[in-house]
Amino acid sequence: MNKEKISPHTVVIFGATGDLAKKKLIPSLYRLYSQGVIDEFPIICVGRKRMSDEAYLKFLDIGKYDKDRKKLKKFVKHLRYIDVDLNKSMCFELAEIVQVFDKKCGCAGNKIFYLALPYFLFGKTIGLIKNCGLLNGRGSKKIAFEKPFGSDLKSAEILHKQIGRFFREEDIYRVDHYLGKELVENIVALRFANSLFEHLWNTDSIDNVQITLAEDIGIENRGGYYDKSGAIRDMVQNHILQLIALVGMEPPKSLNADDIRNEKVKVLKNLRSVRKKDLVIGQYVKDPDSIGYRNEKNVDKKSITESFVAFKTYINNSRWRGVPFYVRTGKRMNKKYSEINIVLKDVTCGIFQRERAKHANVISIRTNPKESVDFLFNAKIPFTRNELKEAVMEFCHKCEFGPNTPEAYETLFHQLLQGNQGLFTRWDEVKASWRFVDNMKRMIKNKRIKLLPYRANSEGPNESFSLLRRDGRNWKNIKRRFAL
Ligand SMILES: NC(=O)c1ccc[n+]([C@@H]2O[C@H](COP(=O)([O-])OP(=O)(O)OC[C@H]3O[C@@H](n4cnc5c(N)ncnc54)[C@H](OP(=O)(O)O)[C@@H]3O)[C@@H](O)[C@H]2O)c1
Repeated sequence: MNKEKISPHTVVIFGATGDLAKKKLIPSLYRLYSQGVIDEFPIICVGRKRMSDEAYLKFLDIGKYDKDRKKLKKFVKHLRYIDVDLNKSMCFELAEIVQVFDKKCGCAGNKIFYLALPYFLFGKTIGLIKNCGLLNGRGSKKIAFEKPFGSDLKSAEILHKQIGRFFREEDIYRVDHYLGKELVENIVALRFANSLFEHLWNTDSIDNVQITLAEDIGIENRGGYYDKSGAIRDMVQNHILQLIALVGMEPPKSLNADDIRNEKVKVLKNLRSVRKKDLVIGQYVKDPDSIGYRNEKNVDKKSITESFVAFKTYINNSRWRGVPFYVRTGKRMNKKYSEINIVLKDVTCGIFQRERAKHANVISIRTNPKESVDFLFNAKIPFTRNELKEAVMEFCHKCEFGPNTPEAYETLFHQLLQGNQGLFTRWDEVKASWRFVDNMKRMIKNKRIKLLPYRANSEGPNESFSLLRRDGRNWKNIKRRFAL
């Protein structure tokens, strides 16, 4: 992998005792360090709990990162843990530590603040960063926010105003880790660097688009957050709408961050609000292997939060006229996978009439469990005259590029440190996404959309199948050989 070395920054991670910092953020920084992309970078880890640096390293389970003890030992020297209660806004120690490290590393005042925190702490944290004098002096000051950015348009707008008092849009990085996934990044290349696909990418050739982000886990220990959020806010507002935007956008003028984001936001603004009959929401109930949603920790026993959503929408422009986008996402489904299926129209001349309906061509982009791009087509079965079989041309990403594809967060940190905003969402995208989601939430409330129970470890409510069936379609189920 070709990664340029980056000039040193002091990285301050707020929420450093959280699940995300432990599983993704610090390990990603280590991988960048071990590849020599970053070296003299201080990483100041801020949590609320009191603990020593040693206890923090134990919490991280840092010994598991690498067998190379020497390298690990060197990396650890760059880490420092400090407890700060963001509600109390006392930060003398933090300010002092940052100053000392900044001088030592020759970071020239360049700083990155990464807020791996619930959104309601964003405002307080920015105030603290400002009051501690961390924005003073020379050098760049970039700030990254984990998703969700607010809980609806109103709260997002308040946040946006608060942040705008101290940071310019070009220094703000709103994280949606789906954008750091290699195959999601690849959508732009697939579409615009291959005449085969770009010529087909419109209403003349495409019958429908299907997006599935299925998780087999429940809500684990995130009940407090999830029960207020639900699948629509947790998955649709960010990951799913970003995927629709990448699949649906017009060719950008260039690969510059703003040219891509200009095109994505047009799609988000042109999305048709979901209609009552085109929306299915569900909540999982127990099966022999798993408890039901309402029995999860920190979930209201009478909760009406959706853990599954499926819907149909359209992009209102000439490229996508009449092409439905079907979406489904849920927790505790029978398997974990994420894929986008571009289902092509049937243009066969009729000589294979009998078999026709079974075999629509599909371009399938899979990000999970294994990354692949596959093309489903019709092949004649040997020794028959007209019997067709579905065949899959598979591009297995790992087989082509090796097993060391960067983790999404590694890519995102790399881009963040380089100051490239292309993989982060701009304010107008966030605004358009919340508008779409708020409309959906309002409709659920006003039109009293029924919350359907579905068995844990199943494919979700049957009604999500009816959503397509009544249009004469089915969710595509592609059987791959290599990228299973
Ligand atoms: N976990 C994931 O895989 C994931 C994926 C995508 C996005 N996200 C987003 O990333 C953010 C963090 O997620 P998480 O799973 O890491 O959450 P988490 O495990 O609940 O951790 C939250 C962090 O916030 C800190 N915190 C809470 N209140 C604080 C206060 N008053 N003062 C100082 N620190 C405080 C906690 O410190 P203490 O532990 O010391 O109290 C902890 O470090 C959330 O916005 C989440 O939506 C997470």
